Amino acid sequence: MKVRKAVIIVAGWGTRFLPMTRSQPKEMLPLVDRPLIQYAVEEAINSGIERVIMVTALGKRAIEDYFDHAYDLEHFLEQKGDTERLKQMRELSKMADVCYIRQKEHLGLGHAILIARDIVGREPFAVILPDDIIDSEVPCLKRMIDVYAEHGAGVVAVERVGDEDTKKYGIIEPRQVGVSERVYEVLSLVEKPEPSQAPSRLGIVGRYVLTPEIFDVLLVTPPGKGNEIQVTDALQRLLKQQKLYAYELEGVRHDTGAPLGWLKANIAYALKRSDIGPDLREYLKKML
Ligand code: UTP
Repeated sequence: MKVRKAVIIVAGWGTRFLPMTRSQPKEMLPLVDRPLIQYAVEEAINSGIERVIMVTALGKRAIEDYFDHAYDLEHFLEQKGDTERLKQMRELSKMADVCYIRQKEHLGLGHAILIARDIVGREPFAVILPDDIIDSEVPCLKRMIDVYAEHGAGVVAVERVGDEDTKKYGIIEPRQVGVSERVYEVLSLVEKPEPSQAPSRLGIVGRYVLTPEIFDVLLVTPPGKGNEIQVTDALQRLLKQQKLYAYELEGVRHDTGAPLGWLKANIAYALKRSDIGPDLREYLKKML
């Protein structure tokens, strides 16, 4: 069955970005001149997704407004004759068929995914965590959907992490499959292990292709680390019933969920822009 729907999860508190996130969703932080959430929606669309479901929470209204029509603004730009910006604004509101549902209690990523159960229905679906910006030639999610199509089982995106970082990720026990060096069968998973307990150095990052059976398992998964319902724990349980694969991402991943990663991402993306990149490069050279 085709992967048609993507669940984009934006219900977290964003405490690493306080005080900024006191009254603004972190997903609306700019990456150069577009909010982070737009990159997630674009990746979904460029991966063949037809329907975007956003799991939001209190204080995230700015995200809904961003993807809505902005008639007054469009009228203003039309009057001004700013056709280029007018075109951009119109494209933005038509960009995706987005629906929104709220997570009313902060019970973890697994719980947030569960909130989308009725809208997703009994079909495979993608999950995107917009903090993870993946800069690659072919969208990471597209590659994962290809792996799903080949193996007919769930897929998680992974990246090699350092010894000091195993405690920040779900870590997989991998078995190489086929000729592709980037695809593994997942034999087991551990949430945020100490390096000595970690079965590898492949950590799960914010992209998943999941089968609908994950909902049945999430319903009976008790809260784990941090007293949150962990998707890694649910995937480990699901391994008893069905296979799971991992795709080692190509390109560069930026963790924009905290200030340093977000700043680095902005510099990397801005340097690639022909309009501002050269000036920024000169400026950085002078600063160092
Ligand atoms: P994080 O661990 O990054 O948490 O969540 P956070 O709240 O976004 O940010 P910090 O750590 O407090 O700074 C990973 C993903 O899970 C979502 C977040 O929105 C993010 O996409 N999440 C987490 C929820 O939607 N609901 C939750 O209850 C927990």
